[in-house]
Amino acid sequence: MTERTLILVKPDGVQRGLSGEILRRIEAKGYTLVAVELRQATPELLEQHYEEHVGKPFYEPLVEFMLSGPTLAIVAQGERVIEGFRSLAGVTDPTTAAPGTIRGDLGRQWPTKVLQNLVHGSDSEESAAREIGIWFPGLA
Ligand code: TYD
Ligand code: MG
Repeated sequence: MTERTLILVKPDGVQRGLSGEILRRIEAKGYTLVAVELRQATPELLEQHYEEHVGKPFYEPLVEFMLSGPTLAIVAQGERVIEGFRSLAGVTDPTTAAPGTIRGDLGRQWPTKVLQNLVHGSDSEESAAREIGIWFPGLA
């Protein structure tokens, strides 16, 4: 069941110099990199990407955070990579993310209120197709 997922190294990860470490973990797990591109997000792109969160209390701070610097957009491919990358990433909150996961080992909850949890990973086949179409229209 080879599939593709959309992964983002968020601006905190790029700024902290963790892009290489995160790519290393994706490759070490055996997933194939299909596309990797450093991009500056825009409010329009983020509104599409985070469509399900528009209007929630953390939405505005999240967008501000996501606009604070470049994001590394990645499409990775492999057996059950959607679930597999979510498992590599750990749960949303870095404080409770398990050690061994990207967020558990490297994520922070400071200095801002928004969760600086380093990475995004699509949460379903439907989200993956939608998000790949947003970040890499040529691949969809
Ligand atoms: P969500 O899609 O729920 O988490 P995940 O990234 O694990 O799929 O939320 C999107 C992002 O919004 C999340 O990575 C960090 C931010 N966020 C907050 O800052 N506070 C919150 O309470 C939640 C739920 C999310
Ligand atoms: Mg999500």
